Amino acid sequence: MQNHQRLLIIDFGSQVTQLIARRLRELSIYCEIHPFQNVTEKFLQEFKAEAIILSGGPSSITDENSPKPPNLVFELDIPVLGICYGQQVMMAMLGGHVDKGVGTAEFGRAILHKTDRETPLLEGWFSTNQEQVWMSHGDHVSKIAPGFEVFATSQNAPFAIIANHERKLYAVQFHPEVHHTPKGSTLLENFCRIAGFSGDWTIKGYREQAIAKIREEVGDKQVICGLSGGVDSSVTAVLIHEAIGEQLTCVFVDHGLLRKNEAQEVIKMFRDNYNMSLIHAEEQELFFSKLDGQKDPETKRKIIGGLFIEVFQKYAKNIKDAKFLAQGTLYPDVIESISFDGGPSVTIKSHHNVGGLPEKMGLKLIEPLRELFKDEVRQLGVDLGLPKSFIGRHPFPGPGLAIRCPGEITKEKLNILREADAVFIDQIKKHGLYDEIWQAFVTILPVRTVGVMGDARTYDYACALRAVTSVDGMTADYYPFEHSFLAETATRMINEVTGINRITYDITSKPPGTIEWE
Ligand code: XMP
Repeated sequence: MQNHQRLLIIDFGSQVTQLIARRLRELSIYCEIHPFQNVTEKFLQEFKAEAIILSGGPSSITDENSPKPPNLVFELDIPVLGICYGQQVMMAMLGGHVDKGVGTAEFGRAILHKTDRETPLLEGWFSTNQEQVWMSHGDHVSKIAPGFEVFATSQNAPFAIIANHERKLYAVQFHPEVHHTPKGSTLLENFCRIAGFSGDWTIKGYREQAIAKIREEVGDKQVICGLSGGVDSSVTAVLIHEAIGEQLTCVFVDHGLLRKNEAQEVIKMFRDNYNMSLIHAEEQELFFSKLDGQKDPETKRKIIGGLFIEVFQKYAKNIKDAKFLAQGTLYPDVIESISFDGGPSVTIKSHHNVGGLPEKMGLKLIEPLRELFKDEVRQLGVDLGLPKSFIGRHPFPGPGLAIRCPGEITKEKLNILREADAVFIDQIKKHGLYDEIWQAFVTILPVRTVGVMGDARTYDYACALRAVTSVDGMTADYYPFEHSFLAETATRMINEVTGINRITYDITSKPPGTIEWE
């Protein structure tokens, strides 16, 4: 979108390809990941990359029909870096040889030993003759292609770092993109420097270009945006609002499953600070009546997802001249949807989203964040004037408190849950822990337990506190609160919230647990 230097990452299906893009964005370098199937000669000519990285992948280049890029990759006279499988592909295509891994696999940490040759790729790398890297390979290069030299070796990878300086081709057997390769970013930075990248990718530039593009695309038509109050939809709305002002209408579907004061706060912030046209769809009773008596987690999710679309449509169809639907899709979602194998993964929980809406309503999608990672979206949000406290909020699931109320949902339980959750979050903020934690919340359990308060017997609900650390929500660890914090929180909660008399702390990691209880 911006007029910047572009780097192409050809994906051969490694689990960590996304991290290459992450590391490069941290270096202010614009890159895109494309699966190898899509990278044709025509694609390469149109993309106009100034450098290419070939990712790792699960295939074996020794197999027939193993994935390969077009030969043109090596004929464009631009720097190419092969990583793991990418190295093996490069060697196999340029006249080297790869052996099937029998007893020579390396998984996990490995130590590289420097040879006596120097290369700009390794500037600032070896402070001693050794460097730790992370390997994950079965096959290995057994003969390097003509013109290549060796710059480092490991026990099972005699060609751990190789280069052909004349042709600006570089290849490594390990993964520089993962954190377990401590100097990996330096290597990627060196590669980009060799390729002449100046680090011209900035959020400020992105914002200007995105605004120009939205104006051009939308013209004088209207845009509808489903605002959930989460970071992604909020930044999307504010960015589009900056571009086209009154031509944007946001619909905030209030399903009655939000946290204490949440709906009012979101509405107020967008109306007061941005003077945004915002419809507050108050449909709490509709959702509540349809969820009445439902206990099964998937049924609850499906009901909420279906109603959400229905309600959204009901309000959106009254917006005259609406031709576009704005969505806060991020780059990781884009990459996921074009995943290497394309195979469906097992449904652990059906996610609540507005998929299918644009087709149903005959609207064109507009997704101004689809080139950004989450931290870039946060940065953009701050630049656009959204309060830091808002931008840094913990994620909150679309189905809201419904999935924090296992079993049947009642208004009584939701009220208790809201109050308990507010106390928990207040405690976390007071102790200065909010930003260390990925997500924290309370779940109200579908059991009552016996307690004693004053001299009287109580028979009230039990709650579970959940607080986790995570990078992306895919895996998580429970947060190790001090016992004194937990004791203080439990006391406050039982004193301040009517209806609960027992507090537990959930110490399950993900996997095997999930973050939410349903
Ligand atoms: P789980 O419970 O699957 O959650 O470990 C991982 C992350 O996703 C959030 N989550 C959702 N977010 N719609 C969303 O927008 C959903 O249906 C949904 N379900 C779970 C969850 O809060 C956590 O951050």
